[in-house]
Amino acid sequence: MVELVLPKNSRVQKGHHHPAPEGATRVKTFRVYRYDPEGTQNPSWDIYDVDVDACGPMVLDVLIHIKNTMDPSLAFRRSCREGVCGSCAMNIGGRNTLACTHGWEEVPGKDVQVSPLPHMPVVKDLVPDLTQFYAQYASIEPWLHTETPEPQKEWLQSPQDREKLDGLYECILCACCTTSCPSYWWNQDKYLGPATLLQSYRWLIDSRDEATGERLDALEDPFKLYRCHTIMNCAQVCPKGLNPAKAIAEVKKMLADRVV
Ligand code: SF4
Ligand code: SF4
Ligand code: FES
Repeated sequence: MVELVLPKNSRVQKGHHHPAPEGATRVKTFRVYRYDPEGTQNPSWDIYDVDVDACGPMVLDVLIHIKNTMDPSLAFRRSCREGVCGSCAMNIGGRNTLACTHGWEEVPGKDVQVSPLPHMPVVKDLVPDLTQFYAQYASIEPWLHTETPEPQKEWLQSPQDREKLDGLYECILCACCTTSCPSYWWNQDKYLGPATLLQSYRWLIDSRDEATGERLDALEDPFKLYRCHTIMNCAQVCPKGLNPAKAIAEVKKMLADRVV
């Protein structure tokens, strides 16, 4: 009989409770995942009762407030604070999103639960290890490949061809889509995942790129591309409103068309 339980050292335990400061005017409870892989403790859920009148409206504002005033040991990534850099991606209330653009009042339920992007190794607390994600992105060679001699000024592109990049160039590589994809959870060593495949399509349809054949050859593999089963989690969670599943379908169509 298969034992369907997590190994003992993976079970998330009850953590510390950090009460609200005296005089707090409006208190909201945040359950935050804590884990230090270099330590000896199991992961835990720490409870922070936050005086939300003392911080801004976004989940990132709350995390910064916690770190500055309640618990300096909490680790998370952030940079731009305006949905541009992608570094604050995490799972908030069961959904992958950006902490800096997601208001804590938007999270359904009594408490707000915050954990790292799922199915990735954890560096510490809310910081996932994205080494493989970036290596997969690098593997598609995300830059212009050309054979014709370089023009004196710039590579020209018609407005119509430029428009084909809309819905693709806006990707900030936050990994919300890839880490919400069940196919990626089970085959992340071989399947490229929605973010990298959306980026592949971005270069495949760029009218200035001259390596379409080579790029398609590299994707013609039972795992790299064809593990997408159109489950659509990726399109549902993208904080920039992009549709990686549609881009993946377009790549599959390009491959099918060139065989005919
Ligand atoms: S549509 Fe494809 S890439 Fe998107 S979540 Fe589903 S399997 Fe993953
Ligand atoms: S497609 Fe959307 S969710 Fe996926 S990496 Fe790009 S911006 Fe993030
Ligand atoms: S901090 Fe840059 S996207 Fe959130």
